[in-house]
Amino acid sequence: MKPPIRIGIIGLGGYAGAHHNSVVQLEAQGHARLVCTCDPQAEAFAAQQESYEFARRGVKVFADYRPMLEAHGHELDMLVVPTPISLHAEMHRAGVERGIAVYLEKPPTLDYRELERMIATDRTAKKTTLVGFNFIIEKARLALKQRIISGEFGPLRETRLNAQWPRPYSYFARNNWAGRLLAPDGGVVLDSCFGNAMAHFVHNLLFWAGDSTLMSWGQPETARAELYRAHAIEGADTFFVESRTTSGVVMRFALTHACEGASLQTETVVCEKASIHYIVGQHAEIRWNDGRVEPVALEPFNALHENHLDYYRYLRGETSRPATTLVDSRPFVVLNNLAYVSSGEITPFPAGLVKSITHPHDAQNYLAVDGLPDALADFLAHGRWPGSALGWRTGSPAALVTPADLPRFIPTLEALAAR
Ligand SMILES: NC(=O)c1ccc[n+]([C@@H]2O[C@H](COP(=O)([O-])OP(=O)(O)OC[C@H]3O[C@@H](n4cnc5c(N)ncnc54)[C@H](O)[C@@H]3O)[C@@H](O)[C@H]2O)c1
Repeated sequence: MKPPIRIGIIGLGGYAGAHHNSVVQLEAQGHARLVCTCDPQAEAFAAQQESYEFARRGVKVFADYRPMLEAHGHELDMLVVPTPISLHAEMHRAGVERGIAVYLEKPPTLDYRELERMIATDRTAKKTTLVGFNFIIEKARLALKQRIISGEFGPLRETRLNAQWPRPYSYFARNNWAGRLLAPDGGVVLDSCFGNAMAHFVHNLLFWAGDSTLMSWGQPETARAELYRAHAIEGADTFFVESRTTSGVVMRFALTHACEGASLQTETVVCEKASIHYIVGQHAEIRWNDGRVEPVALEPFNALHENHLDYYRYLRGETSRPATTLVDSRPFVVLNNLAYVSSGEITPFPAGLVKSITHPHDAQNYLAVDGLPDALADFLAHGRWPGSALGWRTGSPAALVTPADLPRFIPTLEALAAR
């Protein structure tokens, strides 16, 4: 049996709790050992500490990650960083500087300038950081990507994401950074369905649109976006984004939290001879232009467990790279920033279209926009912009932008936050 990977986890609540649960299992299976953890409110998680059996397992608990690394950094193979996004860069750097491999939750950052600094830091790392986008390692996904790049379906033309996750009012009050563009100190927050909650699917779509190698992501050459909001938040809850990659693939992304009913996350890959419909967590199929439909089984997938094991294999030298690196995350971070520059405004939906619904299943209040599901579908299939087609946009049309426009990101954000 190989020696267990020795782990420190920063944080106890939120998604850090999911990492703790996974590591409890991985430890019981002999793959890992939790050495230490920390949280500024560690005492508020007394019940969790008991249920994770920290005392029996000999896990040391700290209030701050710095003294934790001071005391135990030399014993750690891996540091898990599942904390608020604005803390990722400093925690990542602290791990790298101590020679510890970092499992960094997605998104690595939502500021393209900070990402470049993190990439530079990671060049000095003993082991390349993993960015925890959950779905890249799915076996069916990798096998289909391999078939795409082999040319079996003909040239890749378009990729499309239809992601609709209803979120109640309470979701936007879950912490002090939900739905915000900027922090009180002026730092970039940019919390949104595109940048945070459904970031996995955006990153997946970029993965489908990569070049001729398996582990590649589409590089945005141009972008255009319309951003909307139904909720009383600073940021956007609905994104229409179109981007052309440097290899000519047209990617369309349609995401919203301003909806009701069941959640939906469908990725579509359009090639010359067939299109792939991949409903994450459910099933996939290949629809050939000649009428054949080829079902693709998606195996049960425990994302966190599998991503931990995949990174352990890399740390042990059994594989050559983590599933997603900071460099691989660049298209995601850049495209998200360009969406704001292109849109230049976050347009409130016409008031008459927004309705408030109380769902019987959870007694929570939701906002949904009449006609939005059709507008999202129309945009994905035909590239029809709701701003002009439905008269939803009040300002000038969204601009076609390129990565050369990134320096306009911070001024745009400041102007949006000031409105
Ligand atoms: N991979 C996924 O499926 C998935 C799902 C949800 C969230 N996430 C990601 O996980 C990260 C955390 O999100 P969240 O919603 O759980 O955030 P959160 O605000 O709930 O924070 C998570 C934890 O970090 C702790 N924390 C805050 N400041 C800290 C500090 N200075 N030192 C140590 N711990 C600190 C908090 O107390 C909490 O326990 C984000 O990057 C988010 O996008 C990933």
